[in-house]
Amino acid sequence: MRIAIVGTGYVGLVSGACFAEMGVDVTCVDIDSAKIEGLKKGIIPIYEPGLKNIVVRNYEAERLHFTTDLPSVLNEMEIVFIAVGTPSDKDGNADLSYVMTVAGTIADHVTKPLLIVTKSTVPVGTSHRILEMVKKRLTERGLPDLRIDVASNPEFLKEGAAVNDFMSPDRVVVGVESQEAEDLMTKLYRPFLLNNFRVIFMDILSSEMTKYASNAMLATRISFMNDIANLCEVVGADVNAVRRGMGSDSRIGRSFLYPGCGYGGSCFPKDIRAIIREGEDAGYEMKVLKAVEEVNNNQKTVLFRKFRRWFRGDIKGRTVAVWGLSFKPETDDMRDAPSLTLIESLLEAGVAVRAYDPAAMTEARIYLNDKIYYAADIYDAAHGADALIVPTEWKEFRMPDWKKLKSIMHHHLVIDGRNIYNSEELATHGFDYHGIGQR
Ligand SMILES: NC(=O)c1ccc[n+]([C@@H]2O[C@H](COP(=O)([O-])OP(=O)(O)OC[C@H]3O[C@@H](n4cnc5c(N)ncnc54)[C@H](O)[C@@H]3O)[C@@H](O)[C@H]2O)c1
Repeated sequence: MRIAIVGTGYVGLVSGACFAEMGVDVTCVDIDSAKIEGLKKGIIPIYEPGLKNIVVRNYEAERLHFTTDLPSVLNEMEIVFIAVGTPSDKDGNADLSYVMTVAGTIADHVTKPLLIVTKSTVPVGTSHRILEMVKKRLTERGLPDLRIDVASNPEFLKEGAAVNDFMSPDRVVVGVESQEAEDLMTKLYRPFLLNNFRVIFMDILSSEMTKYASNAMLATRISFMNDIANLCEVVGADVNAVRRGMGSDSRIGRSFLYPGCGYGGSCFPKDIRAIIREGEDAGYEMKVLKAVEEVNNNQKTVLFRKFRRWFRGDIKGRTVAVWGLSFKPETDDMRDAPSLTLIESLLEAGVAVRAYDPAAMTEARIYLNDKIYYAADIYDAAHGADALIVPTEWKEFRMPDWKKLKSIMHHHLVIDGRNIYNSEELATHGFDYHGIGQR
């Protein structure tokens, strides 16, 4: 089976490499020629555990190919996946220009029957819009009878665990409207789900909605817990205990009940904005999700507010160590990262920032240039700091040498945005500890 995946980012590259690993002949296409040339040399443009091995192995086995030239390979394919970005536009809508550009290239060059699959997260109705546009173009090109199908196959992988998620998915959601499309997608995904075929077929509109609804549910749980955590602080309860008590209820479950300094990343913020706008366009107000977004925007300021309060507003000229810059551990993705909100507030208030991240330092420079000091390790970051603030819970931050930190920090304040430390333990080391939702 031969497929192309257009857009070689977090989703496209992981999907392409994993399909190739299962024996599919995959061509990954991107307009970024530096990225494509790098991939041919085994240079992986993103930090994603386990990805390099399968990319290199499958490239060498000639099951995985890279090109910038979609038209030249298009008519050898049975399926073309669209996996380009759908960032927010200035009004918060999903910007579909990248998706529609790819669809336009397909429409202009396709000469053989093809299944076009939208893997990008797109507003409900986008796949139909693509089909309509392609058919119109085919009629103009004198090919009105060429068989083109569309399907929707949203992606649920988590950055940091993307390869594993793709190879062993909880489920695969596929929206189809023809038996041929269903058969092709079944053939493609069967090897991933040999023992338990968990492909959920549905209509295309529902499939597109399933992706937004899933992200919206997860973001809702996070904002809900942040709201509960903030109330815990006011009334003297401990959110860690509350979380354990709640999560043990099988109707609630344990995952996504961790309060913190807000959700970020390339998906939740833009997808929540997009579904709110989609509701507005359809004349329906998404009241819960508006609150989810508002709580999150507020939560992203919580670390800065705790820092300012501790020093009673006297923060100008101080220095802060920031451990963790990526929006979550095991990725270098900085898109909408809570660390950025924190650092911007600190810099605006005249506070110097010494930051360290195990994977995202290069990416962080794109956002922060030379406005902060990029430390060599956690101790270099903490040198002379008035506070240590942790927005991202990388494993290597969990058991630092507190004695060493005590000797190199100026004030002994720890503000923990992910509740990875224990206040009593830190007190024994002489630190004043402030987590989220704790006394
Ligand atoms: N990142 C995630 O964890 C994740 C998870 C699930 C779904 N998604 C969705 O998947 C989509 C892709 O996300 P991503 O994070 O992989 O994006 P990304 O920004 O990492 O990658 C997008 C790639 O598309 C390329 N591109 C843009 N226009 C192109 C064109 N005309 N032709 C060829 N390539 C083009 C870009 O150069 C870039 O390499 C988005 O809709 C996103 O919401 C992302």
